[in-house]
Amino acid sequence: MKTFYLETFGCQMNVHDSEKVIGTLVGQGYAQVETPEEAELVLYNTCSIRDKAEQKVFSRLQQFKKDGRGKTFAVLGCVAQQEGEKIFEKAPHVSMVCGSASYNKLPELLVQLETGHRRVTGLSLDTEDTFETPLTRRDNPHRAYITIIEGCDKSCAYCVVPFTRGPERSRTSASVIEEARGLAAAGYTEIQLLGQNVNSYRDPSPAGWDFSTLLENVGRTPGIRRVRFTTSHPRDFVRAIVDAIDQNPALCNHVHLPVQSGSTRMLEAMQRLYTREEYMRRIEWMKSARRPIAITTDIIVGFPGETEADFDATLALIDEVEYDSIFSFKYSRRPNTPALALGDQIPEDEKGRRLTILQERQRAIQIRRNARYVGMVEECLVEGFNKATGQWIGRTSQNKTLNFLSVGASEELAGRYVPVRVTRAGPNSLAGERVN
Ligand code: SAH
Ligand code: SF4
Ligand code: F3S
Repeated sequence: MKTFYLETFGCQMNVHDSEKVIGTLVGQGYAQVETPEEAELVLYNTCSIRDKAEQKVFSRLQQFKKDGRGKTFAVLGCVAQQEGEKIFEKAPHVSMVCGSASYNKLPELLVQLETGHRRVTGLSLDTEDTFETPLTRRDNPHRAYITIIEGCDKSCAYCVVPFTRGPERSRTSASVIEEARGLAAAGYTEIQLLGQNVNSYRDPSPAGWDFSTLLENVGRTPGIRRVRFTTSHPRDFVRAIVDAIDQNPALCNHVHLPVQSGSTRMLEAMQRLYTREEYMRRIEWMKSARRPIAITTDIIVGFPGETEADFDATLALIDEVEYDSIFSFKYSRRPNTPALALGDQIPEDEKGRRLTILQERQRAIQIRRNARYVGMVEECLVEGFNKATGQWIGRTSQNKTLNFLSVGASEELAGRYVPVRVTRAGPNSLAGERVN
């Protein structure tokens, strides 16, 4: 029996790609093992979004430089696409380099490896296809990812994704709906629609659905109780998405809408295609919705040319929006990107200072926001049990973690939807008790 070990870095798109890759490998007669030591084939599905993420795969490969004899190493994902054959120079013990746009070729590449080819590659970005397989090995028994669009046609000045994942390709609406129905039949109750820009979705079939139409229809799949989607780009975020959420409780009341900066001058330098005011208009649509929609975002500090005033505009923006949570990053200079030419003008310690200020400011906002939930009853999808605290771990429709006690009950709750009264709130999670 041929064995493989796969480790995944990066975003949910990568996590889901790995589920498909694992299914493909199993379909080729491989068995998955838990450690790289046990495996004949070791694969890394990599991320290149920031330099730190990219370095991870090289430090993993370094560990096996000496004692990796007899093993075959493969680099998949965004670093594979970005570095291509240069990976063979940096890590000569690697035999396969394959980007996500070439995963349809994986069975063929595996056969080449098995028949003694020393080096195989899948690096073409010239594709109209998305990577679908009925063999997908989903990791979570209740929540399932569905990729609806791959690649990215934007060109944000700091970002590698258009180079690592290629141009946008949407799946047909019929294939997405069919997959959603199949998942419901298999017992999944939550679906998460994935894409670098989900809301640029364009149905290539004659039906011609846009993203909000697809969202409404996935939300009507019998048996599916929750639908999430990520990531939305502000430029393509239309009011119909908010209306859809308002009309169907199965669509989770959470939107992740990365802003990157609160300064229109910086947004222009970043080539984000919207102004602060245009972004705020989208926030207002959500704030005036009937359902309370949780809003989260991504922010980059220290992009070249960011002044103290630009940074203050970002701080003012988070105060105004009052995000439920943010992911914030120090700008990292990336190969191929338009901003590479601008240099790295803001010193690392200044970026660090700004990041700390931003995160502290946001922490105070989250403490304030989460306190509002105390006393309310929220429905949770139960994810598991924490033995150390004796609490169940649940997630609300707004994507908040709600840890709760279920007094007197000993039955398995994972995968069930239960009402929980919130009794305490912290900056990053809520705590409560199950109500009967
Ligand atoms: N498609 C999504 C984002 C994908 S990358 C979107 O358009 O919003 C996830 C986040 O990583 C980005 O939102 C951005 O905040 C951050 N990021 C991307 N490139 C970066 C870079 N070079 N340096 C620092 N952060 C970066
Ligand atoms: Fe990157 Fe911009 Fe595309 Fe998002 S929209 S993946 S940040 S280029
Ligand atoms: Fe990383 Fe590629 Fe995702 S760069 S964030 S794994 S699209």
